[in-house]
Amino acid sequence: MKYKRVTAMQLGTPDVLQITEHELQAPEKGKVRIRVLAASVSRPDVSARSGNSLYRGTPLAKKTPFVPGYAIIGDVDAIGEGVTGVTVGDRVGVLTVIGGYSEYVYWRSDRLIPVPATVDPAEAVTLILNYLVAYQTLHRSAKVKPGEKALIIGASGGIGTALLQLGKLANLQLYGIASGEKLPAISNMGAVPIDYRTQDFVTFMRAAEPDGIDVVVDGMMRLNYIQGGLSLLRRGGRMVSYGEPAGLGTLFRILLLVLRHKFGPSGKSFQLYGTSTYFLFDPKPYVEDWAALFQLLETGRIQPVIAQRFPLLEAAKANALLESGSVIGNVVLVSDLLSSGGGS
Ligand SMILES: NC(=O)c1ccc[n+]([C@@H]2O[C@H](COP(=O)([O-])OP(=O)(O)OC[C@H]3O[C@@H](n4cnc5c(N)ncnc54)[C@H](OP(=O)(O)O)[C@@H]3O)[C@@H](O)[C@H]2O)c1
Repeated sequence: MKYKRVTAMQLGTPDVLQITEHELQAPEKGKVRIRVLAASVSRPDVSARSGNSLYRGTPLAKKTPFVPGYAIIGDVDAIGEGVTGVTVGDRVGVLTVIGGYSEYVYWRSDRLIPVPATVDPAEAVTLILNYLVAYQTLHRSAKVKPGEKALIIGASGGIGTALLQLGKLANLQLYGIASGEKLPAISNMGAVPIDYRTQDFVTFMRAAEPDGIDVVVDGMMRLNYIQGGLSLLRRGGRMVSYGEPAGLGTLFRILLLVLRHKFGPSGKSFQLYGTSTYFLFDPKPYVEDWAALFQLLETGRIQPVIAQRFPLLEAAKANALLESGSVIGNVVLVSDLLSSGGGS
């Protein structure tokens, strides 16, 4: 039997994404096969497909062909030798990083995220990457406390909208930076909106909070936002940047700022956040945070903003929409099993 994936045949615009056919095989030892119900379409997918500027010209540059797709939700449909604790039919999530735009995914059985069967897989898949980044930057990096004042830079995106919802739940007083037509959505999510096209955020924030703010969470990773954000923090304030730097030169200058705030007398902290520690170090904090997020979703305390759902194999159109800059929240790919009722 054959199945389909969406493969980036070369680096470039969304039309490099082509549907390819593959032979369905039994999972290898220690792995399971997952029938994908939903896959996220995220900025790191776009960046990998278009040729991440950070890695361009280095040995880390992505080799083609490859299947993008950072996160999936699906049902286990076959089990390899030696796999215990997972059964056929279990609903699971995976932080794939690469490979999610596919009807089937093969994955290590010890890296599956349990997913309640009661939640919508399209909403659930936003928790695997975007909500995870938001939750961990707030609670593990910035260690926010109720009543604190926080500025979110990049508030209208997949991670930004998650930051606003989770920030509200943590009883933060929120400010959110985005662009013109998206500002009403920022207000509706309980934050004071700031338009980066028409307002200088530092001037705005100094007038609104003359004593400084407690936390800045930044998805832009640009020096002007980082320097401006740091200048707004009170003593004891924390800034976390999770975005992708434009190039190695910018990354180097940002790392110098991290060191200066770690060892210098500023009284403020500045950290960078990345999900790569899940693969490099202890996965336990991730497992705990996904469990907390799924509980919030199951009890209706978070409601992921989904701008549009596309059929799983229409990843090229979904990438083009995300890149258009018109999206508020998340873009998700869904299997036809969901529309036919087979995935619930
Ligand atoms: N560290 C990690 O582990 C990790 C994980 C996932 C993603 N990321 C990175 O995080 C970043 C954001 O991801 P995302 O999924 O939230 O992206 P997204 O959904 O595309 O949202 C991008 C956000 O950036 C805002 N923005 C664009 N240009 C801006 C500007 N000049 N000034 C201020 N804001 C601007 C957008 O605002 P408007 O749309 O209103 O213009 C929007 O709120 C990306 O760089 C991504 O690669 C990092």
